[in-house]
Amino acid sequence: MRTSLFRKKPIDTVSGSEGEIHGGDALGRHLTVRDLTFFGIAAIIGAGSFSSMGQACFSGGPGVIMLFVICGIACGFTALCYAEFAARVPASGSAYTYAYVSFGELFAWIIGWALLMEYSIGNIYVAFSWSGYFTNLLEGFGLHMPEWLSTNYRSAHAAFDAGTAGEGLLAWNAAPMVGSLRIIFDLPAVVINTLITWLVYVGVKESRNVSNAMVMVKLAIIVLVIIVGITYVDISNWTPFMPNGFGGVMAGVSAVFFAYIGFDAVSTLAEESKNPQRDLPRGMIYSLVICTTVYIALALVLTGMVDWSLLGVSDPLAEVFELRGVKWMLFIVSIGAVVAMTSVLLVFQMGQPRIWMSMSRDGLLPKRFSSIHPKYKTPGFSTIMTGLVVGVPIFFTDENFILDFTSIATLFAFVLVCGGVLMLPRREKEKGRFHLPHMNSRWTTPVLYAASFAAVLVFVPGYFTDLLDVSHENAQQNISLLVFWPLALIIAVLAHVKDWSLIPVLGLTSCCYLLTGMAVSNWAWFAAWLIIGLCCYFAYGYRNSKLALKQG
Ligand code: ALA
Repeated sequence: MRTSLFRKKPIDTVSGSEGEIHGGDALGRHLTVRDLTFFGIAAIIGAGSFSSMGQACFSGGPGVIMLFVICGIACGFTALCYAEFAARVPASGSAYTYAYVSFGELFAWIIGWALLMEYSIGNIYVAFSWSGYFTNLLEGFGLHMPEWLSTNYRSAHAAFDAGTAGEGLLAWNAAPMVGSLRIIFDLPAVVINTLITWLVYVGVKESRNVSNAMVMVKLAIIVLVIIVGITYVDISNWTPFMPNGFGGVMAGVSAVFFAYIGFDAVSTLAEESKNPQRDLPRGMIYSLVICTTVYIALALVLTGMVDWSLLGVSDPLAEVFELRGVKWMLFIVSIGAVVAMTSVLLVFQMGQPRIWMSMSRDGLLPKRFSSIHPKYKTPGFSTIMTGLVVGVPIFFTDENFILDFTSIATLFAFVLVCGGVLMLPRREKEKGRFHLPHMNSRWTTPVLYAASFAAVLVFVPGYFTDLLDVSHENAQQNISLLVFWPLALIIAVLAHVKDWSLIPVLGLTSCCYLLTGMAVSNWAWFAAWLIIGLCCYFAYGYRNSKLALKQG
C-alpha cells in the first residue's frame, strides 16, 4: 500500500506530445514565447490589483509594499522551480504532473486537488469583482442593474442579518420571491462565466487572439493609472509606514498573494506551445517580472494618493481618483478592470481543463475528462465541467471566503513544487533548454537564516515577544508565525546535510513563510477540502490509476 501510494511516473515517459502517447488527439501547437508571456500577464493582473489590493492597503498601510516585495520574491523563486520542471517535463498539467514525477501519485493527486482551488474557485472571486466593475460601467451609461441581480445571495443575507445599509440590503428588500425563497444572484458573474466557457470551448487560437488584445489594453490602462496617479502623490501619506504594525501588513497576505497567482498557468499550455522546453520558462519569468514591477508601482501610487485608511473598498483604483476629483479617470479604470478580469477568467478557465485532462490520462479521473473535441481540438468535456464548477457556486458563495481559500491552496501547491525540485536528480545543462543553476546551499542557507533571525531580533524590537503574546490583537497571526521559525531551522539543517540547491530552498522557505502567515481558520477549511479530495482519490483514482493497472 505504502509503495503504491507513492508510485511515481518515470520522468522520461512524460513528454509534450502526451496526446499522441495516450492514443488521443493532440492539441494544436500555436503558442510562442510572446503568447506565453501575454498569457502570464493575462492571468496575473486582474481582481488582485483592481479589487483585493484595497483591502491589503487598508490593513497594512503603505507598508503593504513590503508584502508585495515578499510575495514577488516568493513567486520569483517558485517560478524558477516551475521553469526547471517545465524544461524537464514539458507536458500539460502544471504542478500536478511535476508532483507525479517527483513525489508520487498521492501528492500529485493532492496538488491537482489544490490547483482546482486556484484555477476554478479563484475564478469565482474574479467573476464577482468583474461584475462589480461591470455594473459601475453600466451606471456610467445610465443603465441600472437591479441590486437583486448584481449581488450574491450570501452577501445580501449577511447584510440583512447585520442590518447594514447598502447594496446587500437593497437586494434583500427588493428581491422577487418564489414561495419563501428570495431570488438574489449575481447575473453579470454568471453571464461572463458562460461566455468565457464558450470561448475556451471553441479553441485556443481564438482565445489567444482575444487574450493578447486584452493584455495590451489592460497594460496600457494600468500604465496610465500609474502616470496620472504619480502627479497626485503626496509623500506625507506614506507616514506612518506601518500603521497597524507588521501584523497588519501580514493580514493582507491572501489579498496580495492572490494578485500574483497566475504565472503558473503558463505551464498548463505545454502541449499548445511550439517549443515548451525553451519558451515555458521564459514566458513565466518574463510575465512575473513585468507584473511585480507594475504592482510595486501601483501600491506606491495608491498609498501615496490618499490616506491608507480610505482604501478599504472593493474598487480602490476607482476610489483614489474619485477622492482626488479626477472624474475622467473613473470610466477608464472601469474599462481597464473589466478587460483585465476578463483575461484572468479566460486564462484560468483554459488552465483547469488541461490539468483535468492530464489527471484523466493518468487514470485518476474518468476518461471523458481527457476527450478532445474533434473539431475545436480543445478538451471539451473538461471545459464544460470547469464552467459548471465556477458557475454553480456563484449562486451560493461570497468573495471573501473564496479569496482566502484560493490563496492558501495555491501557496500549498507552490511549496510542493519547490520541494519537488529538490527531489529531482541533477542534470547537465543542454543548449536551448532552461537550466536552474545548482547553487550550493550547504553553508549559505544556515548562515542566511541565522542572519535573518539576528536581524529581526536587532531591528524589529518586540517581534518575538509580540509573537508569544496571545492576548495581542494579531494573536492568530502570531501563532502561525511561531510555526515558521522552527520550520526554517529544519530546512536549514536539511539543506546543510543534503547539500540542497539554493534557489528551491529559498522558494520553499518564502512560500512556507507566507503559508504560515495564513489565519488558522483558513487552515481548517483547507484541511476539510483536502480530506474530501482524499476520499475521491481512494474511491476512484487509486484503483483506476494507469500505474496501478501496470503494477496489477
Ligand atoms: N492574479 C489574478 C488576479 O489578480 C488571479 O485576478
